[in-house]
Amino acid sequence: CCFKRRCKWINIKQNLSKRRTPWEKSNQWPIVGKLMNFTDGLFITFEGIDGSGKSTQSQLLYDALNDLGISAILTREPGGSIGAEIIRSLLVSGDTDRWSAETEILLFTAARRDHLEKTIQPALTKNQIVICDRFVDSTRVYQGVARADLRQTVDELHSIIIKKEPDITFIIDTDPEKSLTRGLARNSGEDRFEEFGLEFQKKLRNGFSELSKTEKSRCHLINGMRSKEEVSNDILNIVKDYTK
Ligand code: ADP
Ligand code: TYD
Repeated sequence: CCFKRRCKWINIKQNLSKRRTPWEKSNQWPIVGKLMNFTDGLFITFEGIDGSGKSTQSQLLYDALNDLGISAILTREPGGSIGAEIIRSLLVSGDTDRWSAETEILLFTAARRDHLEKTIQPALTKNQIVICDRFVDSTRVYQGVARADLRQTVDELHSIIIKKEPDITFIIDTDPEKSLTRGLARNSGEDRFEEFGLEFQKKLRNGFSELSKTEKSRCHLINGMRSKEEVSNDILNIVKDYTK
């Protein structure tokens, strides 16, 4: 049910159970020591069109870090804190014309501010790795490019209210037709953005692809049209490289 789904995400999964100490596993994956040395945490985001596999890949990365005994949390947007989950329910359901693009920018940013204050920043301060399913790049592309031509508004508001960019962003690139079918098949009742249709998803795909070119230092465009395992391996290798 909707409540259970919300709780799943509010009750952020904290990896505190160190099944093996990092140094015990460091032979298998030498980055462990380095990841443990981050002093300001590490902020990793997943982006892409609806149904592209972001949640799947966020979970697989979280599980891989968990297996290595690395302290990480898994969270999502819109949502990830009690207040932000309430705002989420306003945004993801109802008619497509329920909100204008401008109102959406304000609502997503309000939710993001609460999420940052209550969940993301406290975890980073504790030197944890934060894995977040969507962040400001979604607003840049959904509201800034696909819904309307408002990229500058998104960036200006972000620079005043949020002032935080991810360290690493994985953009999962997939075929809009397949992803839309997969997304709608979930029957989640949270399909307001899927209801904008295939042309909208195509615009989103282009928007994310353009963004990856302008934010080269942190954005990695990942071919998501492969098996879950293949995609996940690429992501793990990039996280490893990042820490070299
Ligand atoms: P998103 O979070 O981007 O909306 P999900 O991770 O929820 O996407 O994936 C949407 C659906 O597609 C789910 O049913 C999931 O199991 C499936 N899926 C995810 N990645 C793949 C993949 N690489 N190949 C085939 N199906 C996938
Ligand atoms: P999500 O649950 O991640 O959707 P999906 O699993 O289908 O990818 O996100 C909910 C919807 O909110 C999604 O359609 C994208 C949209 N969204 C925006 O339009 N702007 C934003 O800033 C964010 C974070 C999400």
